[in-house]
Amino acid sequence: MNLRQPLWLLAFIAVSCVFANDEDAEKEFVPLKFASPKVASKDIYLAEDFADQSVLGKKWLKSTAKKEGVEEAISKYDGEWAVGAPQKVVIEGDNGLVVKSKAKHHAIASKFVKPFYFSENKPLVVQYEVKYQEGQECGGGYLKLLSLGAEKSIESFNDKTPYTIMFGPDKCGASAKVHLIVRFTNPINKTTYEHHAAQPTGGVSKYFDDHATHLYTLVIRHDETFTVSVDNYAIMSGSLLSNLEPAITPPKQIADPTDSKPSDWDDREMIVDSEDKKPEDWDESQPKEVVDESATKPDDWLEEESELIPDPEAKKPEDWDNEMDGEWEAAVISNPKCESRSGCGPWKKPMISNPLYKGKWKPRKIKNPDYKGKWEPRIIENPHYFEPQPFSQLEPISAVGIELWTMSNGIVFDNLLVTDKEEVATHFSHQTFDVKVAQEKAYESYSNPSKGIFSDLVEATEERPWLWAVYVLVILIPVIGLSIFCFGRKSTPVPADYKKTDEPQEDVEEEIPRLVGDDDEEEVADQEAAGDTGSSRNSQEEFEHVSKVATDSAEDEGNVSDKSSGSTTKSPSQRRVRQRRAD
Ligand SMILES: *[C@@H]1O[C@H](CO)[C@@H](O)[C@H](O)[C@H]1NC(C)=O
Repeated sequence: MNLRQPLWLLAFIAVSCVFANDEDAEKEFVPLKFASPKVASKDIYLAEDFADQSVLGKKWLKSTAKKEGVEEAISKYDGEWAVGAPQKVVIEGDNGLVVKSKAKHHAIASKFVKPFYFSENKPLVVQYEVKYQEGQECGGGYLKLLSLGAEKSIESFNDKTPYTIMFGPDKCGASAKVHLIVRFTNPINKTTYEHHAAQPTGGVSKYFDDHATHLYTLVIRHDETFTVSVDNYAIMSGSLLSNLEPAITPPKQIADPTDSKPSDWDDREMIVDSEDKKPEDWDESQPKEVVDESATKPDDWLEEESELIPDPEAKKPEDWDNEMDGEWEAAVISNPKCESRSGCGPWKKPMISNPLYKGKWKPRKIKNPDYKGKWEPRIIENPHYFEPQPFSQLEPISAVGIELWTMSNGIVFDNLLVTDKEEVATHFSHQTFDVKVAQEKAYESYSNPSKGIFSDLVEATEERPWLWAVYVLVILIPVIGLSIFCFGRKSTPVPADYKKTDEPQEDVEEEIPRLVGDDDEEEVADQEAAGDTGSSRNSQEEFEHVSKVATDSAEDEGNVSDKSSGSTTKSPSQRRVRQRRAD
């Protein structure tokens, strides 16, 4: 019993964590009142918090683009948009732009207060929030920053409207991305290409699966550098000159497109030897196989029996109708008389390969003395080469468009900002995103009290997986230390006892990582469940789902204290959750 003392200590810590957290959660959750963020109008090209619901249809125009090649005027974009509250109101009056339909095409656009020109020494800063309230199986959440000219007819915004930058999340199945696509026009030959920034190695699927609000920020600076951040954490960065695929800088030299293979260019490496003649004795008429005349019939061969016979035990079924079913025939089985013999039935001499067979004669091949090698066009200086200064050569932008198809509705866009000062965007997010996220967290811990510290610890490992090692060490070191301190002296003199003391220690080593690991598995299971059913879950089911997870993890925590103390009392949090469910 002495050996279990370190577990007592752990159980105490676990229970007090749960307790402390529960006390917090007992406070009523009070939604804040929304306050519009303050931002100087000289700093903005576009700023939208959707507080005023009437912006839909005035400042934000749903695309009325028509389907091409259709006689009747059928709208290309039948997806619904609304300006309104999210499913879980954590700030009263905090509306967003909400995608209202699934498996449909949606398009909406809004023009800037003034166009943004990539010419002055000012960065482009684009920032907005996306919340996949129901997760996302397949669909976009990105913005298109439309090239100058689009502002003249934003109501006809569609998938062909030229944009300069496409930025934001997009997912279909296992492929989750945060796009940064730059459309760039070669100033010499006026050809436009899309250039993509590479995706972060860690993947971005978590931003779609956690149903939380995420802040997407893009900064492109005059020195050609760019940074894409999610929740103020840079996930992609680099230079427009060297980190886009394909590169904006064209190749200096290219294969001459006007060059062509001369008609007398001999590129046959091997040719037929015209000197080679068919030998006199080459007999093409010999067949490949001949009858083996030397073969004789094996002694045990039964020529009068056949390999297959009608099954003598088969009987015509009673209900067999010759008229309807045709003449009845017994099923065929292999003849038992032939089983241990070389064979039955008429015997024939087998075929063997013909030793005289030569086949068709072909002349041999030799190296071509006139072979000139593989033809390749000559390399010339690329007439369309230029040394790009991408930032200042980008098309000015004058409007923002959201054009997407989605399998999950309820995507909320909010707090869009286009500015030319990074600090303005930071200040804007302090007033909007930071407040919202704090409220969402408070709401979560209110509706899901026992998640608390353990889920925080697990969440922290998502971006820093090495924290697992730290957790294990932090828990193990005191346990091992204590074990040695408490029992080391007692147990050392008796070698026969060694095995006995060893077992409980192993227990401890296994127990601790599992305590945190189980939590993690639930998180994953939670996410998977959300992914599977994501699109149809409403907030009521969500709440029940969440409180079920809460109960499960409370039981886990309860179990730890049960095991270590040897008692069967439930942990306080477990009792409370049970009560709440009964209510
Ligand atoms: C324009 O120049 C680029 C860069 O060399 C090249 O890839 C592209 O094919 C050119 N387009 C035309 C139409 O020549």
